[in-house]
Amino acid sequence: MSEFYNSETDIKAYDLVQPKPGAMIEALRAFGYNLETAIADLIDNSITACSKNVWLNFNWKGKNSTISIKDDGYGMNEEKLVNSMRLGSKNPLEDRDTDDLGRFGFGLKTASFSQCRKLTVGSKDIGSNLSVRCWDLSYVSNSEEWRLLKVDPNSQRNLFSDLESMESGTIVLWENIDNLVKGNSTDDNKSHKLFLERIENVEKHLSMTFHKYLEAKNGLNIWMGNKKIKPWNPFLQYHTATQHLCDENLVLYDGKISVNSFVLPHRSKLDDQTYEVTGGIRGWNDHQGFYVYRNKRLIVPGDWLGLGFPKDDVHKLARIEVNIPNSMDSDWKIDVKKSVARPPSILRDELKKIARITRERAEQVYWYRGKILQRGGSSDFVFVWKTNLLHGNYFCSINRDHPLIREMLDTSGENSYKVNSILRLIEETVPIQFILLKNSENPDKGRKPFEELDSKKINEVIKYFMETLLKSGMSVLEARNKLKSMEPFNEYPDIIENLQLNAGVSDE
Ligand SMILES: Nc1ncnc2c1ncn2[C@@H]1O[C@H](COP(=O)(O)OP(=O)(O)O)[C@@H](O)[C@H]1O
Ligand SMILES: [Mg+2]
Repeated sequence: MSEFYNSETDIKAYDLVQPKPGAMIEALRAFGYNLETAIADLIDNSITACSKNVWLNFNWKGKNSTISIKDDGYGMNEEKLVNSMRLGSKNPLEDRDTDDLGRFGFGLKTASFSQCRKLTVGSKDIGSNLSVRCWDLSYVSNSEEWRLLKVDPNSQRNLFSDLESMESGTIVLWENIDNLVKGNSTDDNKSHKLFLERIENVEKHLSMTFHKYLEAKNGLNIWMGNKKIKPWNPFLQYHTATQHLCDENLVLYDGKISVNSFVLPHRSKLDDQTYEVTGGIRGWNDHQGFYVYRNKRLIVPGDWLGLGFPKDDVHKLARIEVNIPNSMDSDWKIDVKKSVARPPSILRDELKKIARITRERAEQVYWYRGKILQRGGSSDFVFVWKTNLLHGNYFCSINRDHPLIREMLDTSGENSYKVNSILRLIEETVPIQFILLKNSENPDKGRKPFEELDSKKINEVIKYFMETLLKSGMSVLEARNKLKSMEPFNEYPDIIENLQLNAGVSDE
């Protein structure tokens, strides 16, 4: 017999090379989860197990702090529990139920190990007794074997007792959460504050990631103490100034991908609190782009998916929802952490097209405060300034067709040359660099025209322009409508409507 292997059917010559637990553990811990994404991965399991409630408990005890996650899903009997603790408990190539949020059979372990050195899971399904198993990484590392510890359910009575009174459910307990508390003492106020801040981030992340489940009627409840986490919906669909541009279904192999694109309202249409909240965890700029949902679970919270578009201020109002089924994980290159997705090349052109349309519209809303669009594309809306592109450079010019500018030019007689020269001087010296600089420092703080004037002063100015239009031969009704469609008077429709005109001018 040869000492080398030479047949695939009769393999006898090999060395058995088992992974070393100590090294494996450190590699598994470095998958790149953070606290938020790790907890989200456990909630995926609770959702797949049809839970109605998930309870999160953050227990501050300095370096002995713990985190536990309990659900009322269908739970596991002892045999299933043991298998669920196995690394790679399910082959990723196996078909999954359409509602299953899992894939690689790693999440429970890798997510937990990224945060803690001791993972204990207690579970029971209908009809079984509570069983508890534990991975103690220090013990595995020392024993150099993957020895899963059998834990006596009575050993942590206060933790597991309410699970026993439930029909079914699961508790995941993290101890030795070394990355989070790093040997802090209980009375270390600074670390305690940091711990609370991290909890706040977890709450925000979950309210974003699972918003579709949280919004659903009879959907999921995620509890943090007595508080129910509220959903964060990125698309502000209820707002009248939000534009829903397209609702498309793309078919890939035998799966369906639905795409909805939205342009959110201009800053001036949102109150401060809505603006702040809708900005999301990472702020408006970072949350633009595609939102990829796998089933109803958000994987990518705003990204241009490598389609070649930058994230910039002018396109921050563009948000596009993409829903993919869980059968397309490999096509979309979903990673173990479920935080990355890349569209298959066959869809790139279509997605680029949708992105382009949405970005264009978002840019218009950004610059024009959404007025043109909000008026249903009114073509007679007039701006004072026009932006032009010449030889690749933008420049601004004063709109000579603006009725008030036109009127001034028409009535300036022999001074029209002077007036034109002054307008030209203003156009040529617009301090663009300064405006760009200030705008990038504080993009949404641009002042509204006439903002500092009191209403009496605004009244006077508007009245003057109203009279100018009347002199040009318009009726009062025409002049009112014209002013309302004219920048910047469109900001003040009430003043225009209630303007007291001089005696003798009728509303005909
Ligand atoms: N909260 C839970 N309730 C019921 N079963 C669970 C729960 N968490 C994990 N499991 C079981 O453990 C298995 C392994 O989970 P996990 O390591 O996250 O991998 P995956 O979710 O990819 O299958 C799951 O497929 C499921 O059968
Ligand atoms: Mg999972």
